[in-house]
Amino acid sequence: MTAPASTALFEPFSIRGVTSRNRIMVSPMCTYAATDGLASDWHMVHLGQFALGGAGIVCTEAAAVSPQGRITHGDLGIWNDAQGDALEAATAFLRGHGAVPAIQLAHAGRKASRQRPWYGNGPLGEADLARGDRPWPIVAPSDEAFQDGWLVPAELCSDEIAVLVKNFADAAIRADRAGFDIVEIHGAHGYLLHSFLSPLANHRTDSYGGSAENRMRFPLEVASAVRAVWPDRKPLFFRVSSVDGAAGGREIEDTVALARALKRCGVDAIDCSSGGVVPKERINAHDTSHGPGLHVPFAERIRKDADIMTIAVGLILDGPQAAEIVDNGRADLVAVARTVLDDPYWPLHQARAMGIDDDFRNWPQAYGWWLERRAKGLRILPGGNGDA
Ligand SMILES: Cc1cc2nc3c(=O)[nH]c(=O)nc-3n(C[C@H](O)[C@H](O)[C@H](O)COP(=O)(O)O)c2cc1C
Repeated sequence: MTAPASTALFEPFSIRGVTSRNRIMVSPMCTYAATDGLASDWHMVHLGQFALGGAGIVCTEAAAVSPQGRITHGDLGIWNDAQGDALEAATAFLRGHGAVPAIQLAHAGRKASRQRPWYGNGPLGEADLARGDRPWPIVAPSDEAFQDGWLVPAELCSDEIAVLVKNFADAAIRADRAGFDIVEIHGAHGYLLHSFLSPLANHRTDSYGGSAENRMRFPLEVASAVRAVWPDRKPLFFRVSSVDGAAGGREIEDTVALARALKRCGVDAIDCSSGGVVPKERINAHDTSHGPGLHVPFAERIRKDADIMTIAVGLILDGPQAAEIVDNGRADLVAVARTVLDDPYWPLHQARAMGIDDDFRNWPQAYGWWLERRAKGLRILPGGNGDA
C-alpha cells in the first residue's frame, strides 16, 4: 500500500477534549532511571526532547501503581503523591512545547522484581544485591513463575484485587493533578492485567479465571475505575497484546472481544502490541523478525471489528510508512519507541523529508529561525539543490 499525496499524519487530531498537533505518539519506554519511583531531571530531559522533536503525544514509561508492581528498582512510580508532584515539571514542559502529556499506568505482576535489562533482565541475584537491589515478593493471578528460576508469585485473593483496582484509580487521580491529559493502562506484555487475560498465565477457578469473560473481569474493573475518576474531557487508552503468540494463548478474536468490552467501559483507543506472557512466542513487542509495521494488521482488525480507535506500534520506521497507516484507516495514531531513541527529532525530520515543513515552521522557534536561514543560504551555493 502507498501513502496518499497529502497526509493526515501531520494534521491535528482530537479525542474527547484533547487535541494532538499530529498523529504521532511517543510510545512508553522504561528507562529504569528513577529512585523510589520518583521522576528526576533525567525524565524531564528524556521526555522533553520528544516534545521539541515534534511528537504530538509524549507518553511516559510504565509508571507503577504500587511498589510491588515495579519491574525493577529503577521504574517510575505513581503510588504516592510525591511521585505525582515530581512529574509536574515534565507535563508543563511537554505542554509548553506543543505535546500532549500522557502517562502509562502499570503493574508488572509476575514479571516484577527483576534486573534492569542491561544487568540481565532476569530475577535479581547476588550481583544485584551487591548493587543494593533486593528482590521483593510478587503477585499474579496464579502461583506460577513466568519461567523456571524466576520468583514464584503469590496468587491474589479477591480483596487484594479490589485494592489493586483502587491503586490504578488513585494513580489516575494523581496523574490528572500532575497535568497529564491522557492515561494509558498497560494491559500488555505479560504484566499483571495481561496475565489475568491469558489462559497461559491465569489458572484461577473463581470469578477472575476460567471463561474469557471471567479473565477479562479484573482488567475491565480497572478500566472502569480509572474512567470513573479520569476527567471526561481526557482520553483513556489501553495497551493490549493483540495476540499471545503461543499455542493455547489469546488470539486476535479474543482481543476484538476485549476491545468491545473496553469501549463500553469508556476506553477511547486500543494500543496494539503483542506477546510477553510466556517466554517462547512467535511475536512480541520488540520483534524484528516480522519486519516493519508488524502490529499494523492487528490495529486494523481491532479498529474495524470493535469499532474503536487504535494505535499501531512496532517498527514504524519512516514518515511514508506512518502516513500509509493513518491515511488508509489502518490505525488512528502511530506510536514510535526505538525509532525516536534513534532520532528524537524523527517527527520533524519526517515532515521535512515529505515536503510538509519546508520552512522549519514546526521546529522550536529558537532552532527553526536559524535552520531556515541556513537552508536558504546553502541553496544558493553552487550545486545547492534546495534541500540543505
Ligand atoms: C527502551 C524501551 C522501553 C520500553 N518500555 C515500555 C513500557 O514501559 N511500556 C510498554 O508498554 N512498552 C514498552 N516498550 C515497548 C515500546 O513501547 C514499543 O511498543 C516497542 O518498542 C515497539 O516499537 P518500536 O519498534 O518503535 O521500538 C519499551 C521499548 C523500549 C525500546
